[in-house]
Parts: sequence; C-alpha cells; structure tokens
Amino acid sequence: MALARIGGRGPSVTRLGLTREEEAARELVGGWLAARGARVWTDAAGNVYGRFGGDGPAVLVGSHIDSVPQGGRFDGALGVCCAVEAVETLLEAGVALRHPIEVVGWTDEEGVRFGIGLFGSAAAFGRLPPKAAERRDASGVSIAEALRALGRSGDPTEARRSKDELVAYLEPHIEQGPRLADRGVALGVVSSIVGIAHGRVTVRGRQDHAGTTAMGDRRDALAGAAQMMAALEAAAGHRRDAVGTVGEISVRPVAKNVVPGECVFSIDVRAPDDRGVDVVLRQFKQAMRLISDVRGLRTSLDLLAQVPAAPLDDGLRGVLRRACAAVGIDAPELPSGAGHDAQNAAHAGIPTGMLFIRSHGGSHSPREYAAPEDYALGATALAIALRELAG
Ligand code: HGY
Ligand code: MN
Ligand code: MN
Repeated sequence: MALARIGGRGPSVTRLGLTREEEAARELVGGWLAARGARVWTDAAGNVYGRFGGDGPAVLVGSHIDSVPQGGRFDGALGVCCAVEAVETLLEAGVALRHPIEVVGWTDEEGVRFGIGLFGSAAAFGRLPPKAAERRDASGVSIAEALRALGRSGDPTEARRSKDELVAYLEPHIEQGPRLADRGVALGVVSSIVGIAHGRVTVRGRQDHAGTTAMGDRRDALAGAAQMMAALEAAAGHRRDAVGTVGEISVRPVAKNVVPGECVFSIDVRAPDDRGVDVVLRQFKQAMRLISDVRGLRTSLDLLAQVPAAPLDDGLRGVLRRACAAVGIDAPELPSGAGHDAQNAAHAGIPTGMLFIRSHGGSHSPREYAAPEDYALGATALAIALRELAG
C-alpha cells in the first residue's frame, strides 16, 4: 500500500517508467531491501536490485515497479513485495543460502512512455531494440535524457548482465485474468507466456473542409484508420486465443469541422504461439494496404517491439507446484495472456518460473484487486520455492 501511494489516487496508480514517481518507488523498495541487510544498487537502465548472501550465481526474484496510466495497485508491485517478504521469511527462519538471492524491481515494464515494453529486463538481458535510448515520449524526451535526469549515464545497454550470474529467475504476479477466481484457487503456476507484437500505424490522407468536400472526394485519415482498427479486431477474432488491441490514437488537426489529414494509432497483437502473432499481423497488413488503396491514403506500420512466446522452465514449474502444495494449494498450470519481464529472462536462457496470485476485477485498471490471504499464501509458497532453489 506504501508503494501504491506513490503516483496513487485511491485505488488508481499512475507510476510510469523512468519518471520521478518510479524513482521514488525505487528508493522505497531499495530502503526495504537495505533494512533487511541487502547490498542495494540500481543499474544504468533504472532497475533496482538487492542482493542477499555472498558471491556466485544468484537466484533472481521480483517483478516491475512501474504501472500503466490509471492502473491498479497490484500489477508488478505485488510481486516485488512478495519477493521482499519471502526473502525476509527465509532470513528470519535462519535458512543458510547455498546461492545468493537477488530481489529485483524492474523499471518500465509497461513501456507506456517510450513504446518499449519490458524495457528494464530487456536492458538487463541484452534484448533492447537497436537505438532504444533514442526513443522519445509524446513530449519529445528521449530514454537517454530521462535516464540522465535520474542521474544515470543515459546508455541503458550498460545494464546488461551475463546470464552466468543467475541460476534462475522467479516472478510472482497477479493473474490479471479471471481463471483462478473462476476455479476458486488462490495460486497458479505459469506454463508459458504469449508472444507480443507492438506497432504504430501512421495513416496520412488529405486535410479538408468538412462542409465543402464531397464524401467521394475525401482522403479521410481517421475514417480509414477506423476501418483498419475494425480489421485488426476481425483478424484477431478469427484466430483462436489471439488478441488485437488499439489503445492509443492521435489525430491531426483535431477540429470537428476539418477532415483529418493524419491519424496515428497503436496496435498490440498477442497469441500463445509466434505463428499466431504473425498470421494476425499479416492479415492486418493486407487490410491496411487494401483500405489505403481504396481511400487514397498513405499508410505505414512501424513495428516497435516483438517479444516471442516464452515456454517456462519445466523444473521450476515443478518447484512452484510443490511449493503451492506445501501451502495446501493444488495449483493449476496456466498460460499467461499478459506479457512479463520473465519473457526476457527465459529468452536469455535463464531457467524462469512464474507464480500467479489470484486477482479480481481485471487489471490495468483501478478495479484490480488481490486479497491479503491470497498474497500471503503466494509469499509463503515463494519462500518455500526459494528455500529449495537457494537454501
Ligand atoms: O501488457 C502487458 O501484458 C503487461 O502488463 N505489460
Ligand atoms: Mn501490466
Ligand atoms: Mn505486470
């Protein structure tokens, strides 16, 4: 709840990546870790780490500390809190560490400002797109400038770690969907994480007078974009378990009596397998070209980031299932429709596991909720899993 008050207004949290609010969250989490005896540092990308135990390859555990605009209190933040709680439990129980444990608070997992999702973990695992530091937010601030304003060098690639430094990565996270709640089960184990493609579509037409331009003479960028958005919905709807979303849109000029000359909108395409993402993208591009030709528009798609689907480690799935059983939960295995930093760890070749904690009211919304008895079970199961991996 202390974390939720940073950028929070009641149940709503706005704590975007690389902002002062996120920096305050880093300091709060760093303080918790230092108070429990960790060596604490932040890296060149803005990730905060706390290391418990000596040298050698570590078990990494944590989640992200940023949120979406008007998001919920639990997405990311709950996983960080469970990680701190689980390590504290092991230390209080006097568990000797065979491997050091590092708790991490990833920066800018949501990629809201700069368009690069899973940014912090992508920097840590060497998976940033080219020239990532030059990406600018809506007010023209680049990632490099935002990092320098937070006292870092401005080059996030300096955050890269060798995968040999880590023996495993565990991420506790709310499910953000209804399946555990529907089954009446408090915890789940993630089997795999969807593939995700993020893009930006720019539609250029011809700005005109809304009163004197006949309907057949228009090159209406917004009307064309609207048809393309419907085509994305249809393409995703035709592919089982695929999803397609437009969440951002901008129009120029914004005036009720002017036919828009330009429209820019985002696309978010996901599917359990990479082939599914590619099929939906291909169908969308075909529709985009057809609509542009018919309407005399010039349209381009800038693919901002694409993260492949990530099957998670069999061994860690077993460790997590046993840990859930130890707290009396027969945890189902579920694919994740949400993207997570765990994808980057898995694609970097680090054995990766995720523990889902039941949540209610959807997610990426102030309605997001998790019950204390559920996340207490989650933290306990995580402590048991960490004891097996690092104790
Ligand atoms: O978009 C996602 O799935 C994640 O919450 N960043
Ligand atoms: Mn999220
Ligand atoms: Mn999240």
